[in-house]
Amino acid sequence: MNPPLTEELRAHLVDMWVRVTNEGGSVGFVPPVTGDDIRPTADRSFDRVRQGSDVLICLVAPDREKNRESVRNGAGFPSTESAQNDIPVVPGTDSDNRLSTGLSGPLTGERVVAWLLLAESESLLRRHWRTVYRVQVDPEWQGLGLGTSLMAAAAAYAKEALGLEALTLMTRSGTGAERFYKRCGYREVGRIPGAIRVGPNDDRDELHFWLDL
Ligand SMILES: CC(C)(COP(=O)(O)OP(=O)(O)OC[C@H]1O[C@@H](n2cnc3c(N)ncnc32)[C@H](O)[C@@H]1OP(=O)(O)O)[C@@H](O)C(=O)NCCC(=O)NCCS
Repeated sequence: MNPPLTEELRAHLVDMWVRVTNEGGSVGFVPPVTGDDIRPTADRSFDRVRQGSDVLICLVAPDREKNRESVRNGAGFPSTESAQNDIPVVPGTDSDNRLSTGLSGPLTGERVVAWLLLAESESLLRRHWRTVYRVQVDPEWQGLGLGTSLMAAAAAYAKEALGLEALTLMTRSGTGAERFYKRCGYREVGRIPGAIRVGPNDDRDELHFWLDL
């Protein structure tokens, strides 16, 4: 949670965002993109993290091959349900590599395999919940359950550490992400037809999801 935003980590997160987008992920852009396209938006988010209004949650793996193998073998990340009660820990690692509220030890960009942000509203009337955004898993690590673990860790942190009552998020229709968020316990609470224009003659609905904590 909120690791130091070193130049290396910032570059790594932007690089992942580029690769996720160019492989078809829906994280605010449409492919093809480069780092130059994404960096200004990323920098605004990183500034909000520095100012304390947003929380950056990263899932880290110290040894790419070892941990990917471990996850594939089913030895690693807990189910959504158990992770709600227990912050997930990267399998086969020591406490230096824990995904926890008090992340200790150096966090190099190389080790981050998934991340998201929790944004606080500017409105004082909306401080009992936060918005989850920029949810992404490194393309090399997708489909292994890490996205589910990341969402569970975010919910646990929001409830236990931030004392929040709910999380919300928005996504565009037609990507399949709806299914992912429903599996993470979110329910659809709203839909704005055609609010997102991803290309000529390709308007998507903006879907609003909500999770009571
Ligand atoms: C969406 C994302 C975060 C999910 O993370 P992940 O680690 O790949 O997902 P998991 O392995 O935890 O999958 C959990 C379940 O959701 C499903 N799922 C994941 N991504 C999905 C997608 N894009 N469409 C449909 N189902 C999806 C999985 O099939 C799995 O269901 P199953 O157990 O029935 O097979 C990840 O694929 C990603 O980063 N995608 C690109 C970025 C993006 O689009 N983010 C969403 C922004 S709104």
